[in-house]
Amino acid sequence: MEMMPYQPHLDRSMSDPGLTLPLTGCGAPEAESNTDWRLGLPVLDGQGLTLRELAIEDAPALFAELTTEEVARFISPPPASVEGFEKFIRWAHKQRAASQYACFAVVPEGQTKAVGMFQIRMLDTDQHVAEWGFALGSDYWGTGLFVAGAHLALAFAFGPMEVERLEARSATPNLRGNGALRKIGAVREAVLSKSFERHGELLDQALWTILREDWRRIRGAFAVN
Ligand SMILES: CC(C)(COP(=O)(O)OP(=O)(O)OC[C@H]1O[C@@H](n2cnc3c(N)ncnc32)[C@H](O)[C@@H]1OP(=O)(O)O)[C@@H](O)C(=O)NCCC(=O)NCCS
Repeated sequence: MEMMPYQPHLDRSMSDPGLTLPLTGCGAPEAESNTDWRLGLPVLDGQGLTLRELAIEDAPALFAELTTEEVARFISPPPASVEGFEKFIRWAHKQRAASQYACFAVVPEGQTKAVGMFQIRMLDTDQHVAEWGFALGSDYWGTGLFVAGAHLALAFAFGPMEVERLEARSATPNLRGNGALRKIGAVREAVLSKSFERHGELLDQALWTILREDWRRIRGAFAVN
């Protein structure tokens, strides 16, 4: 699964001095109204958590939560240092400003620390096709944060981002990842044989989709909000 589309070795934009971005754009009142998510992601409140824009200050917490072996086992390698996460977050802000990408930090209720992420990346802007991915620190697995966060992320994808088709790829041995997608109502469309290399091994991935009409059908089943 492409949890981290950011690839430092391909990122020439980081040295581009022409584009300045708010690095702590979360919570801006104007973003709250969803007038234009490209200017800053809104703060989304759900059951037991908030989704908000990634901030540079999240880098140490995300590094600690998302680089453990159990979290990173079936996703593309996360940045290998706190500085790598800082670069990723700057890249995410630029991609958001370019209408290509929205990446939310997951903050459990009563905390300020980011413990995971939900991301939505446009694959084809004209066709409104996007891919989403998610990861939580393992202490938060099985707590309900995933379902509550997925509800908010899906509402954002099919709302302000105007996505028509949302894809997810999950390595077939990733039992939690596939179970999580299945239980929220994603449709397992295909198996992409040997499509994902991890730890020197080529893994099959399940391709899961949620279409706009699926979202209309399944959103009522989320017992949150
Ligand atoms: C993917 C992820 C965000 C899901 O969050 P979570 O809190 O673990 O998800 P949930 O516990 O709500 O749901 C997982 C579902 O997987 C299934 N599942 C869990 N363990 C399983 C196992 N060993 N075998 C089969 N199914 C399993 C269950 O159906 C479970 O739902 P339920 O028990 O509530 O019915 C989290 O596991 C994670 O961050 N994983 C690492 C990163 C990752 O792989 N991300 C990409 C996913 S495509």
